[in-house]
Amino acid sequence: MSEQIRTIGVLTSGGDAPGMNAAIRAVVRTAISKGLKVKGIMRGYAGLLNEEIVDMDTKSVADIIQRGGTILYTARCEEFRTAEGQKKGAEICKKHGIDGLVVIGGDGSFQGAQKLSHLGINTIGVPGTIDLDIACTDYTIGFDTAVNTAMEAIDKIRDTSTSHERCSIIEVMGRNAGYIALWCGIANGAEDILLPEKYDGDEQRLINHIKETRKKGKKHHIVINAEGIGKSQELAAKIEKETGMETRATILGHLQRGGSPTCKDRVYASVMGAYAVDLLKEGKSNRVVAYSNGKYIDYEIDEALAMKKDIDEYQFNVSRNLAR
Ligand code: ADP
Ligand code: F6P
Repeated sequence: MSEQIRTIGVLTSGGDAPGMNAAIRAVVRTAISKGLKVKGIMRGYAGLLNEEIVDMDTKSVADIIQRGGTILYTARCEEFRTAEGQKKGAEICKKHGIDGLVVIGGDGSFQGAQKLSHLGINTIGVPGTIDLDIACTDYTIGFDTAVNTAMEAIDKIRDTSTSHERCSIIEVMGRNAGYIALWCGIANGAEDILLPEKYDGDEQRLINHIKETRKKGKKHHIVINAEGIGKSQELAAKIEKETGMETRATILGHLQRGGSPTCKDRVYASVMGAYAVDLLKEGKSNRVVAYSNGKYIDYEIDEALAMKKDIDEYQFNVSRNLAR
């Protein structure tokens, strides 16, 4: 089987994440070192369907390990969710001689990879998302950079919040997942964190907590709100009205997805990218690279997608107990 792989493709899909470039670099250079040809597919599955396919060599990935974003660009592609789109994608891979494909992205992108695997293209997923919401892996490329970026921004907001003795609601990314909010909650010493997995919508409890901390003499009240809950402006207005404490909302937004990757993201991306190529060389397909209990491992995509992940209860309780 392994001898059959001659040319591999690589694409990035879904929301970009710092470290994706390091992963692309690792895929390209590992593949070349093993005698494989590499083709870069631009703009995720959209670029695949448009045949935006370029040859890559060692030099095409020079000077990118330190850069945020993705040199291959990324996209979301509705057509690829359809059976016709997936069939067309598999045919285009075959037409271009791509017999192995590395897909760097999140759960959604892995579903696309799974479909291509079932259509005869050996496909491996590499977890790239700032959200840390892929159940089979303890780490996803981009998370460390994103939380450090958010943490630094929140520190700055805290300074001005304290000076003005205000409440600040800071909205961080995470449409369905609260990991960024949880980590920043701990790292920034937030008084409250609102996570999609935990928040029951009880605004009164939040307001009472703000009143309590005020009484205790706290000079600010930092609420970290995950994007999945949203409505930060409305919440700020309500808090101000009910508590009398001046309240400002800040939505950190896409700045959390950019910037030079941290050391951690570069290293995980490099190892995971190389690992994906090794799997293809071994003739494997329909698998996703993961990091679990201190080891790089891999799962069948079907199994990986069936896994569930929840916020760690202990970590969540620590964040609450320290916010006194
Ligand atoms: P992420 O990979 O970060 O989770 P998305 O969920 O937006 O991001 O998925 C990225 C892309 O993957 C989608 O735009 C689509 O092209 C493809 N995709 C998502 N779900 C499926 C699916 N069920 N079948 C085929 N392709 C899918
Ligand atoms: O990459 C994941 C993510 O950043 C989520 O946290 C966020 O909700 C979403 O992407 C935003 O995506 P976009 O604004 O690019 O559509």
